Amino acid sequence: MPRLIIYFNSAMDTRPVLFLDSGIGGIPYCRHFLTRNPAERVVYLADRLHFPYGRRDRNELTGILIALVENVIAGWNPKIAVLACNTATVSALAALREYFPGLPFVGTVPALKPAALASKTGKVGVLGTERTIEDSYIRDLAVQNGIDNLRGIAAPALVELVEHRLDSVTEAEKLEMARRYLQPFRDAGVDALVLGCTHFLFLLDEFRREAQPDIAVFESLEGITRRVETLLGDIERDAPHGPSDGAARQAAEPGRNRLLLTGTAVPEDSWRQWSRRLDFAISLLGEPCGA
Ligand code: DGL
Repeated sequence: MPRLIIYFNSAMDTRPVLFLDSGIGGIPYCRHFLTRNPAERVVYLADRLHFPYGRRDRNELTGILIALVENVIAGWNPKIAVLACNTATVSALAALREYFPGLPFVGTVPALKPAALASKTGKVGVLGTERTIEDSYIRDLAVQNGIDNLRGIAAPALVELVEHRLDSVTEAEKLEMARRYLQPFRDAGVDALVLGCTHFLFLLDEFRREAQPDIAVFESLEGITRRVETLLGDIERDAPHGPSDGAARQAAEPGRNRLLLTGTAVPEDSWRQWSRRLDFAISLLGEPCGA
């Protein structure tokens, strides 16, 4: 089989971009980013030990995330950290930025802005975790975007299902779930719904299908990738070697990206499958980098 040839700069900063979530929720973001930036290296951290984040309180979660990021910096030296998790972002983004001033963070916040612009009824919905829905961050974001009527609903059971049982659910069942979760928004006259939990992107097609014709569904995939690309451009421009000329060629090494799991338990089969699907080598956080 021919090896994938990727063009990238000889002086390119090869430090990885970190994507972090409590589980599989950040994977769609990570994939979207790599599709557009195949020469970048990625470390995907799934904090399975502390899943679900949505049931933790703000201080506890902030402490967990600071310890995690410290550990990843020590082992993997990322150049950018993407919190591919709304719950982590609304709870701890400000604290993380303050604690690690040398590491640029990208947060994932519910895409209220495009939803507000698109809504004709002025009624915008957000489906997220308990932690996200109850946080003042969301209310402030709504006010900033001129939303007077925000309907927030927490869906912890849907987070659990996506994390642990998605492969055993049929397409008809997924559509039925999307229909059920859309109903209270429909009843409230919402015409713009934001998927405010990264896990729900695994059901994006089903939500979009069932939302027609009266509700538009919003997510933040494109916005997050663009933000990371902007930061990469800044890092490249500020690098001592100066901007790249893109002259060198290298073959992409299989397994150069990492799937990192918290906890000491042997990875479950589902994680081994993800490691194969993504072609990411799997390690436990804390194992030596070469393991
Ligand atoms: N995927 C996460 C989010 O975007 C949280 C899921 C959880 O751990 O509760 O909010």
